Amino acid sequence: MFVVEVRNMVGSLAYTGLDISWLESLVEPINAAYDDWRALERVSAYTPADPPPVSAEDLSRAVQRGDIAPEACRVLWHADRPVALVTLGFNGGGRVARLGWLAVHPDYRGRGLGRELLAHAAEEARVRGFETLVTASHVDSRYEPALRLLESDGFEWVDRERCNLTLKMDLEAWEPIQPRLPEGFSLRTWRDGDEAAWTEIKRAVFEDNTPLGYWQNVFGNRHDFDPQGWYFCLEGDKPVGISAAVLTRYSGSGKVMGCCIEWVGTLPEYRGLGLGRALVTACVNYAYRFRPKPFVLVTQPFRKHAVRLYESLGFRTVREWRTYQKVL
Ligand SMILES: CC(C)(COP(=O)(O)OP(=O)(O)OC[C@H]1O[C@@H](n2cnc3c(N)ncnc32)[C@H](O)[C@@H]1OP(=O)(O)O)[C@@H](O)C(=O)NCCC(=O)NCCS
Repeated sequence: MFVVEVRNMVGSLAYTGLDISWLESLVEPINAAYDDWRALERVSAYTPADPPPVSAEDLSRAVQRGDIAPEACRVLWHADRPVALVTLGFNGGGRVARLGWLAVHPDYRGRGLGRELLAHAAEEARVRGFETLVTASHVDSRYEPALRLLESDGFEWVDRERCNLTLKMDLEAWEPIQPRLPEGFSLRTWRDGDEAAWTEIKRAVFEDNTPLGYWQNVFGNRHDFDPQGWYFCLEGDKPVGISAAVLTRYSGSGKVMGCCIEWVGTLPEYRGLGLGRALVTACVNYAYRFRPKPFVLVTQPFRKHAVRLYESLGFRTVREWRTYQKVL
């Protein structure tokens, strides 16, 4: 139990700390606050609601993980109704405090409450010795009220080159074309037993340690997995490049929910030969058969060649997932 302490009064509004027995009652104001963001065009192929609505269990898990430090949060009440809140977490390591949910119910907007909650969060972090306050989840660049508030409050966008970009393509304008490959190279789709070869290429291309089993967990086990959307580029019979068009479907109806291009890469010694273009072209041709909406991919600005390739095929950036930070 946390001591409920009235911090400030604005008319009949009162600030308190966050008591975990209230988590259930915070779900409505948080979800209502994010409704107008959620109403923007859906540009994720993996979820019907973007961002997904939060539940009391999500909040409870966030408290257990330490992502929310209840004693440092503030909830704003109108009589016995919670109408706004800010959550803070201190488990990010270093001298960095993390700003979690900042939510003001639509009925209570335009009164400076968001700014006041933000100032409260900065002060709570500062008095605990933290030097910076960073947004714990990424901020959708399409959601202007959040950008305006953060930027006018001294927050800076800090991951311009490495943030995730969502690129979207309108398939109505696509004319299927035969992927072109240099002599000795071919494309083929996924076969049982391909995970080891895929993992090896992914590790080499993205310089990571992807464990065997990752592909199966994330993609192979999906109810809507379709091997026809997964491509290898081969030199002779040696796999040298990968790409996939993951077509997602609603689990009940089987209706197409969207499509996302995933894990495009060619081994370094095979770049500039047209293999990447051929792989992505095959993925777009596959997606075209289903006309998924949205048809998207996620990349990062520092991947200049990849972004150029996608743009040349008709993809356009529709969202940046930004991290904002403020020095306290
Ligand atoms: C992006 C990547 C897949 C391209 O593969 P590739 O086999 O070199 O691609 P291509 O030879 O078909 O070139 C496609 C486009 O990339 C760009 N490109 C490729 N190599 C380039 C180079 N050396 N200099 C400048 N542009 C280059 C060009 O715009 C080219 O367009 P063009 O067909 O009009 O010439 C490859 O660079 C790669 O694996 N990068 C690392 C992983 C990565 O970033 N993947 C994307 C994740 S979203």
